[in-house]
Order: sequence, then C-alpha cells, then structure tokens
Amino acid sequence: MKKITLLDLKAKKEQGEKITMLTAYDYPFAQLVDEAGIDIILVGDSLGMVVLGYESTLPVSMEEMLHHIKAVKRAVKRAFLIGDMPFMSYQTSVEEAVRNAGRFMKVGCDAVKLEGGEEVTDKVAAIVKAGIPVLGHIGLTPQSIAQLGGYRVQGRDVQSAKKLIQDAIALERAGVFGIVLECVPYQLAKLITERCSVITIGIGAGPYCDGQVLVIHDLLGLTFSHKPKFVKTYVNLVPQIRQALSQYQTEVKEGTFPDLNHAYSLSKETWETIKKAIEE
Ligand code: KIV
Repeated sequence: MKKITLLDLKAKKEQGEKITMLTAYDYPFAQLVDEAGIDIILVGDSLGMVVLGYESTLPVSMEEMLHHIKAVKRAVKRAFLIGDMPFMSYQTSVEEAVRNAGRFMKVGCDAVKLEGGEEVTDKVAAIVKAGIPVLGHIGLTPQSIAQLGGYRVQGRDVQSAKKLIQDAIALERAGVFGIVLECVPYQLAKLITERCSVITIGIGAGPYCDGQVLVIHDLLGLTFSHKPKFVKTYVNLVPQIRQALSQYQTEVKEGTFPDLNHAYSLSKETWETIKKAIEE
C-alpha cells in the first residue's frame, strides 16, 4: 500500500480528482479511516470538543494533541497525516511555532495545520522554511471564536469576502500546500479554489473545493450537540449504541449473559482431577 505524499495531493488538484479528508483521534478510528482509502487524516483540535468534552477547542494542549497523534500514527499505513496546532502553540512567537510544529513531525505527522490568514504568515513561512509542510485554515476559525462572535458563516459581505481572498493569497505566498475553507459561501470558496494554485479543502464551503473534510463523529452521528447545516450524517450510531448498552444492562441483570456459549470450559476428566486435588 503506497503512502500518500504531498506530490500525490498536488497531482489530484491538477487532475481534478477530489481529495478526501477526515478527522481521527484514536487507533481504531484511524485504522478504519485509513483502510477506507481516505487521502488525509487530520488529528484535529476538534478532539477537545468531540472526545475530551471541552466546550471549545481553546483548552486543548500540545500534550493532549501529541498523545492522540501518537495513537493515530500507529494505525496509519497509507493516509497523509496532519496534526492540528492547538490554541497558543503558534500564536506567541515564530520560534515557539517552529518548535511546536517540529514536535508534531517528530511523532510522525506528515504536515501541520494552523488557523489564520495574513496575521500568521510569518509563522507559516518560518515553519515551511524548517521543512515542515503547512495546511492553512481560514473562514470560521474556531480558535478565534471570541473575536468572530460565534460559530457563523464568514465572507458574507464585501469587506469580509475581500479579507478571505487576501488571506488565501497571503497564505499561498507564505508557502502553505493547502487551505481549509470553513463555513464560507460556496461562490467564494469556488473563486478561491480557482485563484489559488494550492489545494483547498472545504468544510461547509460547498462542492467546488479541491477536497472535503468532516469531523468523523459528525459523519457517524456520534455527536450530541447542534448539527451544522453542512454536516451529512452517513449513519446514526447513537440509537444503535444506546440499544446495545441497554440490552447488555438487562441481560446481565437477568442472568442471560454471559451464558455457557460465552464461557470457557474444562473437560469432565480435568475438572474431576482438579476437584480431587483441591479436596485433598
Ligand atoms: O479541528 C478540526 O477538526 C478541524 C477541521 C474541522 C477542519 O479543524
């Protein structure tokens, strides 16, 4: 099984082949995603909300990210693996940004992702100069949620649409290999995709990006919070899991599980021998 490289991703844009990307945060899900042939696995800082139970992505630490990246890395054979730089791991200084991006690469990432446009290009350029591929992320950037005033679609007026285009161009000049466009009207995402030579990966950005990303728990119906319009739930696992848990609870309480089909046994002769030895 050939590992996906940056060159493969670039070739897909040139050939018009859509790029698939999903998040994964642990070994079993990463194995399933990798086996399914998904091109890119993102260990997103969404793990804060999806698996750690935080209210936003802001509390996520480098140590938490590294812990989950290591688990995912053990499962990945083919997909391109990207680690998401958490809040305050790259905003403070260029040196800190390069150092933390390097820590992700040391545990097996193929690239890092960070949020922001023109304001982070000094960090992007320095990380790229250190030989580390960077995926940008503009539009709805959850780490700046306080500044954005909530989880809402970006680029809906002239000023913010222009800013998004400028941000995409600035990131491209700084050396990113691609840009995530989150919660952006599809017309704007299309224009950015056509104007940029780097790949665009949409999430809530319509059908004209070079690729698509979703949070895996959303796709599997494993989230309990509000479902954004852009999410497609391919299977709703929560009712199935609830049913299985409730059945287990009932069967153990009433003594129908475990039955002898789920138990180990000894031959009659061995059991007689053991019993005799115990009784002596
Ligand atoms: O953290 C994450 O999962 C992300 C994707 C939604 C792009 O940033």
